[in-house]
Formats: sequence, C-alpha cells, structure tokens
Amino acid sequence: MADIVVVGAGTMGRGIAQVFAQAGDKVYLVEVDPRQLSLGLETISENLEKSVQKGRITPEQKQSVLSNIVALPDIRQVPSADLLIEAIYENVEAKLELFSLADELFPSDTIFASNTSSISITRLAASTSREDRFIGMHFFNPVPVMKLVEVVRGLKTSDETCQKIIDEARRLGKEPVVVRDFPGFVSNRVLMPMINEAIFALYEGVASRDDIDKVMKLGMNHPMGPLELADFIGLDVCLYILDVLYEGFRDPKYRPCPLLRQMVAAGKLGRKTGSGFYDYL
Ligand code: CAA
Repeated sequence: MADIVVVGAGTMGRGIAQVFAQAGDKVYLVEVDPRQLSLGLETISENLEKSVQKGRITPEQKQSVLSNIVALPDIRQVPSADLLIEAIYENVEAKLELFSLADELFPSDTIFASNTSSISITRLAASTSREDRFIGMHFFNPVPVMKLVEVVRGLKTSDETCQKIIDEARRLGKEPVVVRDFPGFVSNRVLMPMINEAIFALYEGVASRDDIDKVMKLGMNHPMGPLELADFIGLDVCLYILDVLYEGFRDPKYRPCPLLRQMVAAGKLGRKTGSGFYDYL
C-alpha cells in the first residue's frame, strides 16, 4: 500500500482516486472547490454502489475502498506521499504554480506525475527540482473503465521513474504505453485530428451530425461517434488540445475548425454544459 496524492477532483481526478483506492492505496484527494470535492466523493460512491448492485464487490468492500480516500481542501494538509498525480484543469500557469508549491512540500523521493492531455511534461518538470522523478501519467475517461495509461517521458525522466509508473499502471489493472513528450503525445495527436475533421465535415455540410457519427460507429466500430465523443471530452478541452498541436508543430493540418471555436465561445462545451453537438438536458 502506498500513499497517493491526487490533486483535482474533477472527472479525471475522481476516477484516478477511485482506481488507486480500489487497489488498496491510501488516497489523499485534494480539491480547493468544496462543491467539486463533495461531487467527486459522491460519484465515486455511486460507481462503487453500481458494482455492489452488479454483485462484483460486497458492501463491506465498498466501505473499505471509500475509507481509503481522505478528502482535503489544501495540499499543505497532506501528511505524506509516495506519488503525486496532478489532475487539475488544463492551464499551464496553474499547473506550474501547483508543482512548484508541491516541490517545496514533499520530499525529493516523491514522484510527481501529471495527467495532462497535451501540456509538455518537460516544461512542467522544469518548475521542480526533481525533473528525473517527473512523468506524465495520462488516464482516459471514464478512468475506472478505460484500460490505457499513456506514460509520457519528459526529456529528463529517469528510467527508474518510468519503470515505477509502468508498474503502478499495471498494478491498477491498466495497460501502460510509453511515449515521448511531443505535442498531443500519441493519443491526442491521433484522436483530435479525427474529431476536428468530423467537425469540418459537419461545418461544410458533407453530412448531418447523426450520419457523421453513424459512419464512425457502424463503419469503424467506434463506441461513440467523433461528435458525440467531442461532447464527452468537452469542446473546450478539444479546442485547447488542437491549439497545442497547431502551435507545437506550426502545421496547418491541426488548425481547429472555426465551428469548434464558435461553439466554445458560445459556451456550448458538450455534456458538462448540457449542450454541444447534442443536447443533454
Ligand atoms: N464511470 C465508471 N464506469 C462507467 C462510466 C463512468 N463514468 N460510464 C460507463 N461506465 C461503465 C458502466 O458501468 C458499464 O460497466 P459494466 O460493463 O461493468 O456493467 C460499462 O462502463 C459500459 O457502460 P454502459 O453500458 O453504460 O455504456 P456503453 O457501453 O455505451 O459504454 C463508454 C460507455 C465506456 C463511455 C463507451 O461509450 C466508450 O468507451 N466511449 C468512448 C470513451 C473514450 O473514447 N474515452 C476516451 C476519451 S479521451 C480522454 O479521456 C483523454 C483525453 O486526453 C482527451
């Protein structure tokens, strides 16, 4: 059993906290927004309750997993940590600030990992004095279901740190894939151009929303069509990642579709706002 700190109790943070708690670790779930923190704990409890209903775990096991999670409003209250995973919103400045504070708070052998979907691990690592013990641990939504962990090696990440994180991912029952620190890593470098192209197809009137999604679901066996998936990820997140790819490679093939930019400007961010390419209310 290890002491794990998960910073951020949004969709990703709460999922990451759940899988570590299920693996028997003590998880300190840190979130500054009290509403988000209680929502995070509620979601974890509801997920576990579904597993109880399906007969996969006993009510006692559910309680034991929940008791492994300690919710805290301030990272300064965390007593100890073997591994810290940052899962706050995608903002470079906020992440740099968090990591430089954590660098002062935790001993030098605590490994720092970021769940960022596109920000450079090397850049984040440079805000700390432990660039060799800094790595990307990129989970996928919904975290309890998705098998992949994209392990992102920064320029100075050591072999030892990389191996430890590969072992951690396997211990959680996940499949790690090691990638180098280039914009979008592999997952979003491949996924986002597909989503962007689907938005361009809609924008240019090639086919209807439903038909674009149907093509990819029935023709390629994707569980969700690209427009439905964009809503699921969040259109603001998709736009952010596309901008990182566009800036990072300076290649027009990554230019975000104007329709995506317009929808984000209008606050139509997908499932989380109740409206995106589809309506959810
Ligand atoms: N939390 C926990 N479990 C969940 C869940 C959630 N939010 N949503 C669904 N599940 C579980 C269900 O309980 C169910 O479990 P069992 O099979 O054990 O009963 C299982 O997942 C299947 O769920 P459903 O039957 O309700 O629905 P579904 O078959 O349509 O699957 C889905 C839902 C798993 C989300 C599926 O549609 C899917 O795989 N979609 C694609 C998801 C995807 O691509 N995710 C990656 C996004 S990109 C990203 O995260 C990273 C990034 O950098 C942008």
